[in-house]
Amino acid sequence: MVSIKNDKEIKALREGGKKLARVMEEIENNIKSGVSTFSLDKAAEEMILKLGGTPAFKNYGSDLGQPYPASICASLNDEIVHGIPSRDVIVQKGDILKIDIGMKYDGMFTDMARTFAVGKISETAKKIKKITEESFWKGVSKIKNGAMLSDYSKAVQKCVEDNGFSVVRDLVGHGIGVELHEDPQIMNYYDGYYYDDLKLKSGMVLALEPMVNEGKYQTIIGKGGWVFRTKDGKLSAHYENTVLVTEEGYEILTK
Ligand code: MF3
Ligand code: CO
Repeated sequence: MVSIKNDKEIKALREGGKKLARVMEEIENNIKSGVSTFSLDKAAEEMILKLGGTPAFKNYGSDLGQPYPASICASLNDEIVHGIPSRDVIVQKGDILKIDIGMKYDGMFTDMARTFAVGKISETAKKIKKITEESFWKGVSKIKNGAMLSDYSKAVQKCVEDNGFSVVRDLVGHGIGVELHEDPQIMNYYDGYYYDDLKLKSGMVLALEPMVNEGKYQTIIGKGGWVFRTKDGKLSAHYENTVLVTEEGYEILTK
């Protein structure tokens, strides 16, 4: 079931989303060649706590026996999502680094991700970063009360594929709010077969997150069971915001 958030919940999501966007900005300012993803994780965790929130990803999945050990996901180059921060992972000039952060604030979860360039990056890296963000905006422009969820998915897919890239199929966006992951599952492509469509209503809150591969869409799961990589070893980019469905359109909560 897809829940409709009440005014009190929406207020908390707005406040939390604004704070989360500040955390992301702070991390962006810390990204340079030579820093470890561990230090970025510590900086994010510290700031989340200082702002009165709690890191949503830390210990996520402990009920499944494989708790996520950090407050952010930091995924480099061919890593798609869920890269675990480490003292041994040092970002270098030319890398693209995906940072994904979730926070619980006043009882409500928000979630966002960005792809950052470290120093000068290749033309292909620039293009995939740009197109991934663009696909998000094309998709979200379809969101409003009464629209179909598939309108979003089709718009994302079209933008990605028209530019010669592919949409990751093994991972999806999701409803969010009282839990980090709520219904619905939000595919970033449309196959007309397995797609479970939904009419959007004001007050739904969605984490929309296109994941885009330079080459083929297939993924592999790395050792440890968390990190997803591209099977062909090519680049991947990610862009995510927590979004409120409104009467006229949408409101980005993580801004
Ligand atoms: N932002 C991701 C998501 O949307 C990451 C959550 S997985 C976690 O689902 F384990 F890191 F929490
Ligand atoms: Co998410």
